[in-house]
Amino acid sequence: MCGIVGYIGNKPAYPILINGLKRLEYRGYDSAGISILNAESKIYKCRGKVNDLETHINGRNITGNIGIGHTRWATHGVPNDVNAHPHKSQNGHFTLIHNGIIENYSELRTELMDRGYEFKSETDTEVLVNLIEHLYIKTKTSAENAVRLALQRVIGAYGLVIIAKDEPDKLIAARKGSPLVIGVGNGEYFLASDATPIIEYTNKVIYLKDGEMAVLKRDNLDLSSIDNHKHTPSKVQTIDLDIGEIDKGEFEHFMLKEIFEQPKSIRDTFRGRISMEKHIISLGGLFEVMPRLVDAKRIIIVGCGTSWHAGLVGEYLLEEFARIPVEVEYGSEFRYRNPVILGDDIVIVISQSGETADSLAAIKMAKEAGALVLGICNVVGSSIPRETMGGVYTHAGPEIGVASTKAFTAQVTVLTMLAMWLGKKRRLLKEETYLKFITELQEIPDRIEDILKNNDQLKEIAAKYKDANNFLYLGRGYSFPVALEGALKLKEISYIHAEGYPAAEMKHGPIALIDKKMPVVFIAPKDDSYDKIVSNIQEVKSRGGIVIAVVNEGDKTIKGMADHVIEVPETNLALMPLLTVIPLQLLSYHIAIMRGCNVDQPRNLAKSVTVE
Ligand code: AGP
Ligand code: GLU
Repeated sequence: MCGIVGYIGNKPAYPILINGLKRLEYRGYDSAGISILNAESKIYKCRGKVNDLETHINGRNITGNIGIGHTRWATHGVPNDVNAHPHKSQNGHFTLIHNGIIENYSELRTELMDRGYEFKSETDTEVLVNLIEHLYIKTKTSAENAVRLALQRVIGAYGLVIIAKDEPDKLIAARKGSPLVIGVGNGEYFLASDATPIIEYTNKVIYLKDGEMAVLKRDNLDLSSIDNHKHTPSKVQTIDLDIGEIDKGEFEHFMLKEIFEQPKSIRDTFRGRISMEKHIISLGGLFEVMPRLVDAKRIIIVGCGTSWHAGLVGEYLLEEFARIPVEVEYGSEFRYRNPVILGDDIVIVISQSGETADSLAAIKMAKEAGALVLGICNVVGSSIPRETMGGVYTHAGPEIGVASTKAFTAQVTVLTMLAMWLGKKRRLLKEETYLKFITELQEIPDRIEDILKNNDQLKEIAAKYKDANNFLYLGRGYSFPVALEGALKLKEISYIHAEGYPAAEMKHGPIALIDKKMPVVFIAPKDDSYDKIVSNIQEVKSRGGIVIAVVNEGDKTIKGMADHVIEVPETNLALMPLLTVIPLQLLSYHIAIMRGCNVDQPRNLAKSVTVE
């Protein structure tokens, strides 16, 4: 949700801020704004993209070395110029940018209005900046303490950066529930929602933790707790992100780049974790908890969106190879339905961003219930790895496109390694089966390289069906979660309604939808349910439906009945999701492009859903 950038140092702040916002635009964008401390300390903000903000500023030479910038994903107040951030307090003492939600903003707003405050915007953020100013004036305290006093009144989530007019040599930052990273330079500091705007200036970062405040001056950084209790300041870390990873390179879109990166990202996911010499899989982040995992009575996998789909694949893998009962839960449902969580449960939370609010809330609840809570995340240093008792980084590299692609295959790769590892540890897997499997897993990147060569075929199919109003995606077994994932990809970037379904469920309702305008995508590898899928295809064809089938190379049966077949190489059936999802990613990408959609920043969506 939204993007925050801040700079204090000796360089001109404007270029750093505007480029930083562009790097963060994938996180959430309906409006953007900047404010730089100088004689005017004007706020420039408008509805639209960061490019629109640049036009709005129309090259005005905004001088100054301290500033803040924001891209907004509206929660309170429609996306418009007035509701865009930054927001200035009524008497001009503070200017603030905010990521998150102030849940008790309404009562605070009433309280402030009773004290003569008037509000220009509909946002919760403007309430906060005026609350800070009100307390600053009333208590005659420092800017930092006014911020602290205000935050102690606030219920909700925030990542904040504040400029104080009367103390113009500093930036004040605070976080609770929304990410904030400090970049440590020489005589300068950077602030951002994640490391991508920072990495081109420094690889030294500090991930602020929940409840932590920072006062940044050019030559000093003071970390304290918002409630002023004694606290252990977050440490400086060195990140190994390189700028090339967050550029599109020769690709037109981040999503396409990330689809084509999957051979590399999967190699990175299992790099150093599979040893063919010693025949072992080692997941370092789980070493300490492995005994509890090996003896697990139940695993609950929690995730949202694509991460939830990866969790479903994980359920099939863990139950097949480790024979451990698995339940898969949406974070948003799990946190509110008062689930039964037993002390010996193991909860695995899957999240690319590591910042998804519903998944974070599920972690808190599971920890309170005494479960062992683990994470599978992509963003190093994000909140979920910090809140869990162990876990595995997917090492897929930054995923900028809102539609998750390489993160999904990386998550499934981790779950595959975990299932194999546990199956072996629980003596359920013969040595040769285990060895064959990890050999096949290591061949997956090459198989994906082969599939990516079908890109033009996917483009041709996309051209035929880009104007469809509905799609159905059908699969059985391991292909059912892939059907769900393929449908989500299409929905979220092309805005065509699509549904994923277990193929056998067709006859319990969805078959009524079939007509000659309905493309039906079957994921149909040669698995145990192949013959059943063939029947399902015939059911669709006999009702005039259009069949697009992802099949194994050399499949003649389905080739003889489908309108289009996309071939993927054979591999272990449990590894098939890593292959069959690739054509679906490409199909959705090309359809979206042909429909003129903004693939990397689809409407209404944000890369990291840090609000409820
Ligand atoms: C997937 O393409 C979407 N961007 C979305 O469903 C995403 O998977 C979901 O919001 C979960 O995000 P996370 O993995 O960062 O927790
Ligand atoms: N709640 C604030 C608003 O609606 C911030 C939203 C965001 O995180 O971008 O303006």
